[in-house]
Amino acid sequence: MEARHTRGTAWARGLRVVLLLALAGTAAAAGVSASRVPLPALATGAGEACVEDTPTMRRNHMELLKHQRDRTVHEGIRTTRHSLANCVNCHAGKESGRVTGSKDAFCEGCHRYAGVTLDCFDCHADRPGAATTAGAVR
Ligand code: HEC
Ligand code: HEC
Ligand code: HEC
Repeated sequence: MEARHTRGTAWARGLRVVLLLALAGTAAAAGVSASRVPLPALATGAGEACVEDTPTMRRNHMELLKHQRDRTVHEGIRTTRHSLANCVNCHAGKESGRVTGSKDAFCEGCHRYAGVTLDCFDCHADRPGAATTAGAVR
């Protein structure tokens, strides 16, 4: 699985971080963006707060998820704090009930905007409490 994470140069990563910061929604960032690609209207997560503070999540959520996966898959340690199912529980769209499937979906909307493609939801459920289909995991 790790091989899938080696895409992109350091430059591309830097560019994505810049895009990500533009998404942070400050007036300044919005003003600078001359892009005609509309910003996704990301829904606010459920609950009081994320599992870490928002700026940390914007920057580091991928590392948290990979770390969590390695702990679970390689070391057999299961916690919910940084589990993918936990992200989906809070971030599923109120109407769609999913984190993928549209430009406004929480995970996929931002990734489309940032030009990131994930394979995570090929296997992991993109909605809370989804019945696990053949080979699917939560
Ligand atoms: C208890 C509910 C909850 C859980 C669990 C949760 N989040 Fe959040 N998350 C929130 C809230 C609330 C915010 C801040 C408001 C917002 O921007 O949605 C947030 C913010 C974020 C942001 C920043 C969004 C932005 O506007 O820039 C990202 C990225 C994020 N979460 C990803 C994740 C990931 C990945 C996981 C799983 C590791 C996760 N969240 C787990 C509730 C949650
Ligand atoms: C080919 C199928 C597949 C793909 C693709 C996949 N996973 Fe997993 N993932 C699994 C399986 C199987 C487990 C082990 C499930 C278990 O034991 O609970 C797992 C476990 C995890 C866990 C630990 C359990 C949890 O819910 O926290 C995390 C985190 C995780 N994966 C994240 C990811 C992320 C992030 C991606 C995309 C970069 C991804 N996975 C892509 C199959 C997959
Ligand atoms: C505010 C925008 C934003 C939101 C919301 C967001 N992401 Fe991301 N995500 C990004 C960006 C940008 C990258 C690429 C960062 C890089 O390449 O360094 C990324 C990368 C990732 C990666 C690593 C992909 C890879 O192949 O290396 C995973 C896994 C991931 N996000 C999972 C999620 C999940 C799950 C959610 C929803 C709970 C989510 N993200 C929500 C912006 C976001």
